[in-house]
Amino acid sequence: MDYYEFMELITFDGQVVLVTGAASGIGKSAALLLASRGAKVVCIDLNEAGLKTVVAEITAAGGSASFKTMDVSSQDEVKNGMAQLLKEHGQIHALAHSAGISGPTGKPVEEVDWKDFQKTIEINLYGTVWLTQALLPSMKANKYGRIVHLASIAGKEGNPGMSAYNASKAGVIGFVKGVAKEAATFGISINAIAPAVIRTPINETVSDDVQKYMISRIPMGRLGEPEEVAELIAFAASKACSFTTGFTFDISGGRATY
Ligand SMILES: NC(=O)c1ccc[n+]([C@@H]2O[C@H](COP(=O)([O-])OP(=O)(O)OC[C@H]3O[C@@H](n4cnc5c(N)ncnc54)[C@H](O)[C@@H]3O)[C@@H](O)[C@H]2O)c1
Repeated sequence: MDYYEFMELITFDGQVVLVTGAASGIGKSAALLLASRGAKVVCIDLNEAGLKTVVAEITAAGGSASFKTMDVSSQDEVKNGMAQLLKEHGQIHALAHSAGISGPTGKPVEEVDWKDFQKTIEINLYGTVWLTQALLPSMKANKYGRIVHLASIAGKEGNPGMSAYNASKAGVIGFVKGVAKEAATFGISINAIAPAVIRTPINETVSDDVQKYMISRIPMGRLGEPEEVAELIAFAASKACSFTTGFTFDISGGRATY
C-alpha cells in the first residue's frame, strides 16, 4: 500500500456519516472530529438547540453538516427518519450511535420504577436495534458500511445502582456480536465502544457515590475526555476498520483489559 492509499483509509472525504447524540458529549466530539476529516455529517438528537450549535460550529470552520431531530426510542421516528435520510443522501457510509441516557442511578434494582427501567432500555437498546435494522439493507446493497454503537464498561462489568443501564449496554454488546456476523461478508463492520467514565453532561445525573466508585476503579485515576472517545469512534467508522467486527473496543483508562 502506498502513502495515498493509507491516507484514503482514514479520510471521510465523500462519505455521509450519521452521528446520533450529536448535540452533546461524545456524539458532539465525534461529529466535530469526523467533519474535520472530511465527512458530510448528519447530526441527530432530540435536542434541536444543541444540534444547531454543533452544525454552526462545523460549518463556520468550513466543514459539512446538517441536522435532524429524532427520538431514537420511537421506532416510527427512526424508520421514517432513516428512510428520508437515505433518500436525501443516496448512500450512508457510517453510523456513530451515541444517543443514550444513564437511567436511574444510585438505586437497588428492587427500588427502581419500572417506567424508568423500560425507558432506559428503549433509548439505549431498542434505538440501537432500530437504527441498525434501518441502515443494513442499503449498506448490504452497497457492499459497504461501518456501524459504531456506544456501549459502556457498565455493560461488561456492571455498576451497582445502575441496573437498567447495565442491562441496556450488555444488550448492545450482545447485539453487536451477532449482527456483525450476519453482515460480515458484505463489506460491513459493526462494533461497539465501551468507555468508562467520560467527562460529559450525562454524568450530571449520576449520583456522587456512583461517580466516585467508577473513578476509583480506573487505574489512570481520572475521567476520560470525549475527544479521546471520538478518536476511537473515528477509527471504527473508517475504511481502516476493515478486519474487526462484532467487537467491543475498550476505552476505560485501564479498568477493563479485555
Ligand atoms: N460519559 C460517560 O461517562 C459514558 C460512559 C460510557 C458510555 N457512555 C455512552 O456514550 C453515549 C454518549 O453519552 P454522553 O456521555 O455523550 O452523554 P450526553 O448526555 O452528553 O449526550 C447524550 C445525547 O443523547 C441525546 N439523547 C438522549 N436521549 C435521546 C433520544 N431518545 N433520542 C435522541 N437523542 C437522545 C441527548 O439529548 C444528548 O445530546 C451514551 O450512549 C452513553 O451511555 C457514556
